[in-house]
Amino acid sequence: MKNGNKTKISEELSSQLGKLFEDGLRDIYWAEKALAKALPKMAKNASSADLVEAIETHLEETEQHVSRCEQIFKLLGKEPRGKKCEAMEGLIAEGESIMEDTQEGVMRDAGIISAAQKVEHYEIAAYGTLRTFAETIGLTEAVSILEATLNEEKKTDSLLTELAVSTINEEAAQEPAE
Ligand SMILES: [Fe+2]
Ligand SMILES: [Fe+2]
Repeated sequence: MKNGNKTKISEELSSQLGKLFEDGLRDIYWAEKALAKALPKMAKNASSADLVEAIETHLEETEQHVSRCEQIFKLLGKEPRGKKCEAMEGLIAEGESIMEDTQEGVMRDAGIISAAQKVEHYEIAAYGTLRTFAETIGLTEAVSILEATLNEEKKTDSLLTELAVSTINEEAAQEPAE
C-alpha cells in the first residue's frame, strides 16, 4: 500500500505541475505575441543602426518563439491559447512611456535598451521555469524546444548589454539633461 500511495502522490504532484506548466505556457505565449507587435515600434524609435538591427533580428526570433510555443501546445494535445500576461503588458507600457519621454537619439536608445532588457529578463525567468517544469514532468521534447528559445533570450540580453556599454550609455551621459 505504501508504494501505491507514493505513486498516487507523485501523480498528483506531476499533474499539478503540469497545470502550472500549461498556465506558464499560456502566459508566455500571450507575452511573445504582444512583443511581436511591440518590437517594430521600438525599432522605429531607435537611432543606432546596431540597436535597430538587434531589435529586428530579435523580432524574427520572437516570431519563432510564438511558433515554438504552438509546437509545445501540440505536444500537450492542447489548442494554443494565450492568457493575458499583466507583467509583459506593464513592461511594454513602460517601454512606450520611455520612448515618449525621451528625445530621439542616444537618450532614447539607452531607454529602449533598458526597457528591452527588462523584457528579456522576464522571458529568461519564464522559460527557465518552464524548462525545469518540463524536465520534472518528463516532457523531454518540450525541454529542448524551450531551451532553444531560452538561449536566444540570453543571447539578446548580452547583446543589448554590449550595445549599452560600448556606445550608447557613454554618449547619453555626455548629453545635458533638459
Ligand atoms: Fe521571446
Ligand atoms: Fe525576447
